[in-house]
Amino acid sequence: MINDSTFKRNLIQWFNKNQREMPWRETSNPYYIWLSEVMLQQTQVKTVVDYYHRFIQRFPTIEDLSQADEEEVLKYWEGLGYYSRARNFHTAVKEVASEYHGVVPSTPEQFGKLKGVGPYTQAAVLSIAFNQPLATVDGNVFRVWSRLNNDSRDIKLQSTRKSYEQELQTYVHQEAGTFNQAMMELGALVCTPKKPLCLFCPVQENCRAFKEGTVLELPVKTKNTKKKTIQQAVFLVRNAKGQYLMTQRQERLLNGMWQFPMFETPNALEQLQEKLGLSLSIAEGIVFKLKHQFTHMTWDISVYSTIETVSLSESFMEDNHLEWMDLNQRQAYTLPVSMDKIYQYING
Ligand code: ADE
Repeated sequence: MINDSTFKRNLIQWFNKNQREMPWRETSNPYYIWLSEVMLQQTQVKTVVDYYHRFIQRFPTIEDLSQADEEEVLKYWEGLGYYSRARNFHTAVKEVASEYHGVVPSTPEQFGKLKGVGPYTQAAVLSIAFNQPLATVDGNVFRVWSRLNNDSRDIKLQSTRKSYEQELQTYVHQEAGTFNQAMMELGALVCTPKKPLCLFCPVQENCRAFKEGTVLELPVKTKNTKKKTIQQAVFLVRNAKGQYLMTQRQERLLNGMWQFPMFETPNALEQLQEKLGLSLSIAEGIVFKLKHQFTHMTWDISVYSTIETVSLSESFMEDNHLEWMDLNQRQAYTLPVSMDKIYQYING
């Protein structure tokens, strides 16, 4: 392990000069820092910036967010994906409002117990907002640290993460937030996966992988077992006014979000008919095809158009979480990215 005292100094000096401007780096409000760290999981900085601004404009305080409906919170997350992040964050913020008088707890014990707060979020928020001595280990840090130490242990293993956390612990007694962010920023800007800029690296002299010529072989990560692909059929079903039938998901994945009726193939049409209690026929040919990747699976979606216009009673619609959407009422619905693509397609 690196024990050169210049390492941390060089890293932080580089960070102070080269860090990107980010709105959450200009605040000490722990609620905003927490929000940014939740949004940044699985999502790139440049995508997050606009969402972050819109979110804090609508929900400027813990109090505001704790009083909001989940449906509206999801609306502000729409398009970012991984919606359970938003639900958990909302739940945790409500807990902060009720249990901690709206003040984000600053101890690892209390903060770490909040819904959705795992080791990464805990360390990131507490170190950046409260300078607590906790080391963050995310994808960037895994890459940087494995290279600095020429460490070829599998980063998928929990034991490797634990060991990294312990090793990095040495550096966070002071300036924890700055050190953690500097490590992540180095991974994002210099120590990149495929074309690292080793010649511009502020800690090149500490890098064992650079010396050994193994930079591009690290980090070592066992391959995912192949993702499952699910064949889905989506149906465009219209009423006499030309509005589209939408259904609200009642499942763990994307719960509460709206979609055009979708069923797994084969016999998707039978499932649609059974759900609506109607007999329907499908226009020839596929309207549109798309794939959507989740962490653990892929949806391979074919979109079909039904021929008949459909009429359903209001009470049936309500009981079955169905609504008719006018194409110009899109904003009233929270759609997953895949469904938004279908909407964009039919809306020309
Ligand atoms: N990725 C996630 N959080 C970050 C932060 N605070 N700085 C740099 N990269 C990050």
